[in-house]
Amino acid sequence: MDPSPAAPASHNTLAESLGGRAIALVGLMGSGKTTVGRRLAAALGLAFRDADAEIEQAAGRSVSDIFAELGEPEFRAGERRVIARLMESGSMVLATGGGAYIDPATRALLREKAVTIWLKADIEILARRVARRDTRPLLRGKDPFEVLTALAEKRHPVYAEADIVVETPDSAHDLAVERIIAALKDYLA
Ligand code: S3P
Repeated sequence: MDPSPAAPASHNTLAESLGGRAIALVGLMGSGKTTVGRRLAAALGLAFRDADAEIEQAAGRSVSDIFAELGEPEFRAGERRVIARLMESGSMVLATGGGAYIDPATRALLREKAVTIWLKADIEILARRVARRDTRPLLRGKDPFEVLTALAEKRHPVYAEADIVVETPDSAHDLAVERIIAALKDYLA
């Protein structure tokens, strides 16, 4: 998609210098991939896609139902297919689900077709944020801080392979967007 004329000229240039690659946001549940991603896309004049929403649409059921009825391996297979399809569509901002980048095949694809950005945040902040919704199957009936701490131990070394790491502040999503744009400018320069 062409960068929108509504985006500032310097941001249009940034979108162009992606050379057709996507921007993929990775990180734990609650790190703001969807909220920040939507704002980042608007700022850069790019399309926004949310992998979980696309999986739900393709499967005709919610992420929770996919986990409950088909199991996590089937969800990961669907996630791989959906992200592979999205990566054929050129530049966009993609919010991935927290486990997508951990899957070796999805990670390899994202590394090839996208500039990957890890939205890194304190576990306390993430635990507070995810407590607002009970739609996440990995958290249902469990203590979010404990689950996220265990996931962080396994996943942080993998997220750290992302092209860019951005520490996200508590609640101020616009600040996160500014930090991402500054980091992207450096990375793409
Ligand atoms: C998951 C994160 C969720 C969703 C699914 C599994 C994970 O996405 O894909 O519940 O493995 O961390 P968000 O990170 O958008 O919550």
